Amino acid sequence: MTGIALLLFYFSWAVSTVMTRQNSIPSEDNKSQVNALIPLWDMCNHTNGNISTDYNPDQDRCECLAVRKFTAGEQLFIFYGPRTNADLFIHNGFVYEENQHDYYPLNLGISQSDVLREKRLKILSKLNIDNIVFRLKRDAPPIDGYLLAFLRVFNMNEEQLNHWLSSERSDDLQYSDCALDTVLEKKTWTFLQTRMKLLLAAYKSTLEEDEKFIAEASASPNQILAVRLVATEKKILNCVLEYAEQYVKQ
Ligand SMILES: *[C@@H]1O[C@H](CO)[C@@H](O)[C@H](O)[C@H]1NC(C)=O
Ligand SMILES: *[C@@H]1O[C@H](CO)[C@@H](O)[C@H](O)[C@H]1NC(C)=O
Ligand SMILES: *[C@@H]1O[C@H](CO)[C@@H](O)[C@H](O)[C@H]1NC(C)=O
Repeated sequence: MTGIALLLFYFSWAVSTVMTRQNSIPSEDNKSQVNALIPLWDMCNHTNGNISTDYNPDQDRCECLAVRKFTAGEQLFIFYGPRTNADLFIHNGFVYEENQHDYYPLNLGISQSDVLREKRLKILSKLNIDNIVFRLKRDAPPIDGYLLAFLRVFNMNEEQLNHWLSSERSDDLQYSDCALDTVLEKKTWTFLQTRMKLLLAAYKSTLEEDEKFIAEASASPNQILAVRLVATEKKILNCVLEYAEQYVKQ
């Protein structure tokens, strides 16, 4: 690295270090909020939970309430916030396997060249689906109603689009038990299945290879961390793949 690059690197590192550790508290005159560092608190590791931190004006202090019982000598955990593993990796330097807030951002859109684009967009807007980044999760079900509706609308033919455009019940498209033409259902789930296979195939290694790499422990901690991050992504994609396959088989 050149001197300037090194300087920039340390600057980014320093900014990131401070930004992820700042806490908002009232200013001395109580007229605004200011950021403060609370060093001892930064020693606590993260666990699943809910934000349980607030400023106590009577005591003039920040308070963090325990999310469960801790015994003397036990490691104390706090909840850093609803962050994905990619966020935790970049800003906090770790990956959390049991992360309840982790998701894989799936980008999908309606092609500009799709002749039925306008009709598809119209139904999607009726369903308030303007966002094309969907969240894939490891929990059951791994896809939400928005993505399910999007996939169905994406795969509809013109006749089906016309039907749902004039239907009062377009909200039903978000539910897995919505009564739909079996050909459309098959097309929808096959599309998702194919998409997951393509995403998984784009990685340079398989999940099994990643797990072997992690277990071998000959790699550096940073390499292991990076591989653990992609392994969590693949686990999510695998969950969605299995979920889609169940419906393809029906
Ligand atoms: C700010 O608010 C606290 C708690 O309400 C109070 O004790 C303190 O006197 C206030 N400070 C000023 C400068 O108003
Ligand atoms: C937080 O976790 C790390 C990694 O597991 C560990 O090394 C460290 O001791 C933990 N911190 C505390 C305060 O226990
Ligand atoms: C967070 O709060 C929600 C709603 O109160 C609750 O259902 C959930 O169990 C809490 N999560 C944890 C890990 O405590």
